[in-house]
Amino acid sequence: MGNRRRELTEGKMRAFCALFWMLSVDSFGILKGVFGNDSNKHLELGKLYMAQGQLQDALTHFHAALEIDSNNYLTLFRRATVFLALGRSKSALDDLNKVIELKPDFNSARIQKGIILVKLGRLEEAEIELKKVLQRDKSNEEAEKWYSQLGILQRQYQQARILHSDKEWVTAADLLTKIIDSCPWDTNLREMRIDCHLAMGETAKAITDLRATTKLISDNTESYLKLSKLHYLMGEGNESLNEVRECLKLDPEHKECFPHYKKVKKVVKVVNDLNSAASDERFTDCISLANKLLKVEPSNQNFYFQAEEKLCHCSLKEGDVKEAISHCTKALSFRSEPRILCDRAEAFILEGSLDEAQSDYSKALEIDENFQRAKDGIQRVQKLQKQAKKRDYYKILNVRRSATKKEILKAYRKAAQKWHPDNFQGESPEKKAAEKKFIDIAAAKEVLTDPEKRKKFDAGEDPLDPESQQGQGFNPFQQHHGFHRGHGGGPFSFKFHFN
Ligand SMILES: *[C@@H]1O[C@H](CO)[C@@H](O)[C@H](O)[C@H]1NC(C)=O
Repeated sequence: MGNRRRELTEGKMRAFCALFWMLSVDSFGILKGVFGNDSNKHLELGKLYMAQGQLQDALTHFHAALEIDSNNYLTLFRRATVFLALGRSKSALDDLNKVIELKPDFNSARIQKGIILVKLGRLEEAEIELKKVLQRDKSNEEAEKWYSQLGILQRQYQQARILHSDKEWVTAADLLTKIIDSCPWDTNLREMRIDCHLAMGETAKAITDLRATTKLISDNTESYLKLSKLHYLMGEGNESLNEVRECLKLDPEHKECFPHYKKVKKVVKVVNDLNSAASDERFTDCISLANKLLKVEPSNQNFYFQAEEKLCHCSLKEGDVKEAISHCTKALSFRSEPRILCDRAEAFILEGSLDEAQSDYSKALEIDENFQRAKDGIQRVQKLQKQAKKRDYYKILNVRRSATKKEILKAYRKAAQKWHPDNFQGESPEKKAAEKKFIDIAAAKEVLTDPEKRKKFDAGEDPLDPESQQGQGFNPFQQHHGFHRGHGGGPFSFKFHFN
């Protein structure tokens, strides 16, 4: 905005400087040209703005000049050039037709008209125009250059129509792309290519062509509606809403756009609320909004995916492992994305399914070899697998990895009661086994009820392992009661506190 304003001001400054330069150095004739005749004044200003690339300002002055002197073919020709530069081919064509009417031997106007007709895909008309130029001026290189392309283009155009009606989508799309290079303003070609891309499932490409057609045809409510529907199909709610609003700007009571707008608006609200809940880590809201999305839009696959993907992530964060795995799997069956694979892998870890977790992390890395979360995840799983071969404190107490402290203490009390060495008589092998088991149970309780130690253990370290913890080994007997593990049992008489 600011830049454009500055440009405009600079442009105007330069234009006025040029005028004053003419005033100061030039003859009376030009003075009269500038101030004596309003039409010429506007023409000169228009030319100056045009030279500066200030197309809108140039247009304003050419309009003004033509209001005073509507049959000035040179001014008309200049205005046509500006229209063309602004992409307004229809207005340019109107001006050029008037120019040719006023001055039939003005070759440049016919060549311009011919080029516009080629770009519009009106090849027969272009041929007539360019032929007229070449009849008058055989060696006109520019006319020859465009004229020589017409034969091939016409043949390709016909072939494309046939391929399109034969539903040879891929071949038709390739050929259409070649023709559109030469005829970029032809809406029929675009519409055919849209059909091809939709049939090929290339929705994004269809959208690009549709957007072009909204510019090629004015008041194109149909294209806006189609665009909105395509964005909706792709699960792009905001974009869909923007396009249907464009339709309603042109026709506020459009029969199809209005009901479509109502529906899109409702869904977009839920989607946007859902996204905010997830990014604000309001996981309960996230889960209920995702379920709401499934209810208000039960049939669109892309919104279904967005809902399932959020249910996967937010259930995981809520610690609901089973729900998380189920929703992640649904989302993944629709689209395999690294972050969803990593969410499911985390859920698998919490569930104790390390192989499945590893497999998901590997798949994530197949999709994106630099996905850091998956790289870290693989390392974590490897540590956990190594650890699983050693002591697994969760297994010892027979609790889930996501168990609460309360659940852990309960499991601990149960196991400790069952395996307390006092329950076993004499020096039997059973008593020995129970002693070992009892040590493990106490160690498990020590680690899993201490948030620091549990965190270390979850990260794949054994906080009681002297190897990984530099001599902070743990032995409840040794530490508190001078009992030496592995030395064969001495008298065993301490009271264990079930806290
Ligand atoms: C959609 O638009 C809303 C508000 O205009 C914005 O907050 C949100 O981030 C947008 N969503 C996407 C996916 O771009």
